[in-house]
Amino acid sequence: MCGIIGYTGKKKLAKENIITGLKNLEYRGYDSAGIALSENGEINLYKSSGKISNLENYIKDKNISSSTGIGHTRWATHGEPNQINAHPHKCGNVTIVHNGIIENYIDIRKKLENEKITLQSGTDTEVACAYINYIYEKEENNSDRKLKSIIKACSDFRGSYAFGIIFSDEPEVIYTTRKDSPLIIGVGKNENFIASDISAILDFTKEYILLEAGEFAKISCNSINVYDSNLKPISKNISTATWTASEYKKNGYDHFMLKEINEQPQVISNIFKKYLDNIELCSIEFEKYNKIHIVACGSAMHAGLVGKYLLENYANIPVTVEVASEYRYKNQLLSKDTLVIIISQSGETADTLAALRIAKEKGAKTLAIVNAVGSSIAREADETIYTYAGPEIAVATTKGYTTQVAVLSSICLNIMKNKNIISDDKKIYEELKNIKKILKNIIENSEVYKNVAKKIYKCDNLFYIGRGIDYALCMEGSLKLKEISYMHSEAYAAGELKHGTISLIENGTPVIAIATNKELYEKTVSNIKETKARGAFSILISPYTNNTSDFADISVELPDLSEFVNPISTVCVLQLIAYETAKLRGCDIDKPKNLAKSVTVE
Ligand code: AGP
Repeated sequence: MCGIIGYTGKKKLAKENIITGLKNLEYRGYDSAGIALSENGEINLYKSSGKISNLENYIKDKNISSSTGIGHTRWATHGEPNQINAHPHKCGNVTIVHNGIIENYIDIRKKLENEKITLQSGTDTEVACAYINYIYEKEENNSDRKLKSIIKACSDFRGSYAFGIIFSDEPEVIYTTRKDSPLIIGVGKNENFIASDISAILDFTKEYILLEAGEFAKISCNSINVYDSNLKPISKNISTATWTASEYKKNGYDHFMLKEINEQPQVISNIFKKYLDNIELCSIEFEKYNKIHIVACGSAMHAGLVGKYLLENYANIPVTVEVASEYRYKNQLLSKDTLVIIISQSGETADTLAALRIAKEKGAKTLAIVNAVGSSIAREADETIYTYAGPEIAVATTKGYTTQVAVLSSICLNIMKNKNIISDDKKIYEELKNIKKILKNIIENSEVYKNVAKKIYKCDNLFYIGRGIDYALCMEGSLKLKEISYMHSEAYAAGELKHGTISLIENGTPVIAIATNKELYEKTVSNIKETKARGAFSILISPYTNNTSDFADISVELPDLSEFVNPISTVCVLQLIAYETAKLRGCDIDKPKNLAKSVTVE
């Protein structure tokens, strides 16, 4: 996904404010960045490949005084991440920034080429820009000409978009519209903004308007007018952001990822407190459903795997966990007795949003577990449980994942209570009450994780093995390491390794074994020994670490907790091992290469 921002105000601060906003959006993509500024009636473009700091250096000595502009930080979907493909794009009268994908851009480009209109870049965005300009030049010259041109062009686009548009003959006005990509309008005093998300504008205002799909807005420094596709004015409410600008700063930590790991004790205890205070997480009667589908991507899907284990083992409800990009194209076998739980930190992941829409179309009840308040998935699901983790800036999710697991644990505990099947509730309640201290103790144990990192950071291949719920934790631990340290790692069901993959174990290959389930502990130990026998360097992560030296080169002791809490405490260890390893490898921990925080394209 990409990040777009626009500013128009009485003060000539467009360059400064847009660069500030882009820095707050950089987690959405950082392949290239650009800014278009209205200067003395001209629209001038400044673009650079790579991070926003490159763009900032490129323009810092230029004498620019501008009151209106649009900016963009890119995660490349079409065309290489170079300067020519960087946004903004300008064609004739139209300058544009875009987040999304125009899926039928090749057909539209052919139409333009037939009109002898040639393009410079390989991007779908430049095609969209040229097409809007093509329609604009043919549109009747009246006060609605610009909005009508945008409306007509968008009616021909297939795919997703959030556009920021400036016309050269109206350089102090920004036009915007969206479909399937997020966009908000920031409301200031004699200044207004557009942005992909609230993080871009919190340094300037907390007041914002959510633009809905198919709405079109015309924005000047002291007016915001929103219309439908028939140019009928729409009145919009102004919301106030609950998040603050400081939550988007590192506040003394080396990285956002480390800050967000350290925020977990508080945000997790906030969730369990709701459960302990018997606050209903949502009004869904889970017992009514004979099947649950959990649908998500990446780490959110891994959280779903933990939820599956808990709901099946303790609440006796059959659960399937599906990757959203697969689920949306399969026969989902949905019925009114199926509850579809959609999990997403950003609430904007394209495949997950598509899966939600399909589930709703097919009549299933939908529950979203989301962090980003007011996001598309949160707004479109029948019910939403917010994780209230606060803004998560690091691309590699940490508190986003553990708060999802905490919500799923709480749902399971609620169902068990309603079915009177809760067993050792005293132990569980004690743990939930002390969860903040438990997690703080684990996170503070940094020397242990640094020691593990020192042993593994030079390796190119690494395995995580576990059984049952531990296998689900291996999936998340493996992804964290891959994402930020660029080491290849694989999560494997411990009992499955000997069916082929153990052939990859060589002398010194690190194997991280997670063994938190007492009943399965001995089985997992046998699997560790099988890898040791073939030269592996074994790292045991378990509450049971007495007498392990004959099979574990390193043992990391965990507190012995119930399975409602243990996945969260164990993953904190995996997050910190990945973090320390990436640090030793000199990787860009908050902005890993090729990634973006939320994938709002297919
Ligand atoms: C996890 O560290 C990654 N950033 C990625 O797998 C992420 O979990 C996935 O893209 C889903 O994002 P979402 O939760 O915002 O939908």
